Amino acid sequence: MKGVLFDLDGVIADTAVYHFQAWRKLIKDHFNRELPAALEKQTKGVSRNDSLTAILAYLDIKVSDAAFQKMTDEKNKVFRELLASLTPQNILPGISDLIAQFKEHDVKLSLASASLNGPYILEKLQLNSAFDAIADPSKVVAGKPAPDIFLAAASAINVEPKECVGIEDSIAGIKAINSAGAFSVGVGNKSDLNQAKLLFPNTSYLNYQQIVQAWQNFNQ
Ligand code: BG6
Ligand code: MG
Repeated sequence: MKGVLFDLDGVIADTAVYHFQAWRKLIKDHFNRELPAALEKQTKGVSRNDSLTAILAYLDIKVSDAAFQKMTDEKNKVFRELLASLTPQNILPGISDLIAQFKEHDVKLSLASASLNGPYILEKLQLNSAFDAIADPSKVVAGKPAPDIFLAAASAINVEPKECVGIEDSIAGIKAINSAGAFSVGVGNKSDLNQAKLLFPNTSYLNYQQIVQAWQNFNQ
């Protein structure tokens, strides 16, 4: 195992909830409608545009291209406001230790987040220097569940996907890792992430030795 492809929101930091909070506010402000909690799963890991498309489809609302663009900008503004107070304290439990373990074993770290705010969030968490590469989601053709961002993240550290593990909290992300040919490590519950090759209930359980062992068994 030579590389680790990290999702960001919901894996490295507790920012996943902010995305849905921002969508909820946007939809309330524009249409006075509530979004059900179930929609959060569907939008997790999914790009900003694909998320709004899924939300509007659920609400059965059509908007012009200009209105769509305005809404995604507005959602991002709310999200950025929520990020303003982010500090290293928002790093999820177990993540700093796991990163240290990877580094100790010369495993390269690459960010495979769908978020255009990835570099900003890493900076706020003071984690920039820990990463060897950040894949740019604006440069990939298709978002998660397509494998593109994980392929780009592996390529950015010059490691073959099969020599990488990907760590994800979203259904779309686990699918993307599997399609990329990397070993998928899920953080979350079994009913959502049943396609993960290795699953931990939350980030505090993430364990370097267990990950390496499972990767080795899978690749034997
Ligand atoms: C992912 C989140 O990390 O990034 C999604 O899980 C979000 O909820 C996506 O839609 C895109 O983020 P951003 O910051 O570019 O709007
Ligand atoms: Mg995530």
